[in-house]
Amino acid sequence: MVGRRMKSRRKWRTVVGILKELEDVCDTPVGRLRQVVDAMAVEMHAGLASEGGSKLKMLLTFVDDLPNGREKGTYYALHLGGTYFRILRVHLGGQRSYLDVQDVERHPIPSHLMNSTSEILFNFLAFSLERFIEKEGNESNSQGVKRELAFTFSFPVKHTSISSGVLIKWTKGFEISEMVGKDITECLQGALDRRGLDMHVAALVNDTVGALSLGYYHDPDTVVAVVFGTGSNACYLERTDAIIKCQGLLTTSGSMVINMEWGNFWSSHLPRTSYDIDLDAESSNANDMGFEKMISGMYLGDIVRRVILRMSQESDIFGLSSSTLSEPYVLRTNSVSAMHEDDTPELQEVARILKDLGVTDVPLKVRKLVVKICDVVTRRAGRLAAAGIAGILKKIGRDGSGGITSGRSRSELMTMQKRTVVAVEGGLYMNYTMFREYMEEALIEILGEEVSQYVVVKAMEDGSSIGSALLVASLQS
Ligand code: BGC
Repeated sequence: MVGRRMKSRRKWRTVVGILKELEDVCDTPVGRLRQVVDAMAVEMHAGLASEGGSKLKMLLTFVDDLPNGREKGTYYALHLGGTYFRILRVHLGGQRSYLDVQDVERHPIPSHLMNSTSEILFNFLAFSLERFIEKEGNESNSQGVKRELAFTFSFPVKHTSISSGVLIKWTKGFEISEMVGKDITECLQGALDRRGLDMHVAALVNDTVGALSLGYYHDPDTVVAVVFGTGSNACYLERTDAIIKCQGLLTTSGSMVINMEWGNFWSSHLPRTSYDIDLDAESSNANDMGFEKMISGMYLGDIVRRVILRMSQESDIFGLSSSTLSEPYVLRTNSVSAMHEDDTPELQEVARILKDLGVTDVPLKVRKLVVKICDVVTRRAGRLAAAGIAGILKKIGRDGSGGITSGRSRSELMTMQKRTVVAVEGGLYMNYTMFREYMEEALIEILGEEVSQYVVVKAMEDGSSIGSALLVASLQS
């Protein structure tokens, strides 16, 4: 009896040790976050200076003018994200307040499409668009007028114009290798033409750029947009003269939206655990998208799963070992969020989700431990996400440090500080309150109370799709 109690105490100590180690490695005191901020700003410079100068690709988007609210007409958007695809129609009345978003359809992307062929993928998208249009009848389209479509494509693209570009690589588990290097717009337009659809792909838009467009449409102080969804990325408005790798680039506005592809950001200051290393090594894109793998929805669940798995292997606190727990990605981030935010006294939601993982009859004390794991992993993600945003603000001189004008007094700097809106989109941000709170809290911590008053973080529901349609509208007007 005494022996059994001692053994169980020893096992509990093992598990507490694993948790403690996780907490230590994932710790993100503000000093460390500031190092990440600096590294992000430095890498941004390097990525703008030369092609391949940084892991940050800092891609040109050829978007130099954002929607201003005067756009009119009916436009469509098709959005291929990481987990869902969306189709919608917007009607614009020429005034900011008259933005009518009609018939939003949102469907999970059938998983077999993610490693099929480009033909199968684009035929599927064209078929879905056809069904969407069939439902609308005749009222939305005056006869003979081609429907103008924005294609929001949430993957890295090397653009040759606003409406064309080739796929650089897949992310988020997509693996259709023959598509890399192909022109995405041609693939979609070809599939639409084959179905005889009277639609014209007028713009190819990263989801971050869509979110920025909607943000700007509502509030012209919007200069940065970030997506925290299945994947993560940011874009912002850059002065053309700062895009050194494209000397002589001329735009009427003097600026261009840069798609950072920040998921691939890397710095030795990022707090990396053995779980991150294993997750990366076993992923379909090893040694790639290191930042994304620490902060985005596709991966948070799997980091948590790996910690629980190790605990269950090194102790018996989760009972007999469950084979389900060994399945990669079986624990989704929305379940992590549900466990983390479980406010029932007995943590019933945690018990239910663990049961789905083949782990039954877990005592309350162990359920609390699971909540703690979710907290540590999500807190790190939220705080690193904030450091990423602050890095962009630093690069564009909106972090209160004065950028090149440093040497000025604090009060001088404050009078120069401009209001800056950061548009944010994505399921992780929208649906996981604790992630959002950790992110926003850390942003204030990094920037300080005073500067934070000038930085507004605005949620953009469906911003990527709606904003892309607005962008197409602004091209026509
Ligand atoms: C892609 C980006 C995209 C982000 C958010 C990343 O995996 O590389 O292009 O913006 O996910 O969807």
